[in-house]
Amino acid sequence: MAKNLIIYYSRTGENYVRRKVTVLSKGNTEIVAEYIQKAVGGDLFRVETVKTYPADYYECIKVAKAELRAKARPELKNYLTDISDYDNIIVAGPCWWGTYPMGILTQLEKLDFTGKKVFPVMTHEGSGLAGSKSALKKYCKGAKLGKGLAVRGADAEKSEDKVVKWAEKELRI
Ligand SMILES: Cc1cc2nc3c(=O)[nH]c(=O)nc-3n(C[C@H](O)[C@H](O)[C@H](O)COP(=O)(O)O)c2cc1C
Repeated sequence: MAKNLIIYYSRTGENYVRRKVTVLSKGNTEIVAEYIQKAVGGDLFRVETVKTYPADYYECIKVAKAELRAKARPELKNYLTDISDYDNIIVAGPCWWGTYPMGILTQLEKLDFTGKKVFPVMTHEGSGLAGSKSALKKYCKGAKLGKGLAVRGADAEKSEDKVVKWAEKELRI
């Protein structure tokens, strides 16, 4: 059976949910990442930046935009260094200005993806998979790109059936 690694970033605090700013005690992507693990097994690795992002939604989007423009690579609390044990690498994150939060890229750039299969997973409020596929093509050199999964953040909790269907089809080899 294929060995799965789920690399994810998720933020708690204020977020934009169905056109309203709402406080999330658990991030949407974390919920989806755990559903994937529950469905097909695998290890979870949470990307955590040393610098925390503002809990305030409007402050956070300003910081995120500046980081995207600057092509920032924020420092992480822990780094994965070796993914040689895994077949499938699922990269899950919220859509931030059309792509992954920059901390995910900090991590991806440190790994050797030769011979791996990578799968974009994105939670969003309308943008779908957005730039996640092109990001994985660019930052996971040597990997084959699998079919991705987009989940509306507001529907994260009730997305388990959709996640299971996708995971069983794409990740169970
Ligand atoms: C900084 C920031 C930027 C965002 N940019 C987008 C975007 O470009 N498109 C979109 O559909 N949703 C966007 N959102 C909404 C998030 O992608 C969505 O709420 C996501 O599910 C949050 O996941 P999390 O709880 O795991 O962090 C943004 C949210 C934040 C905080």
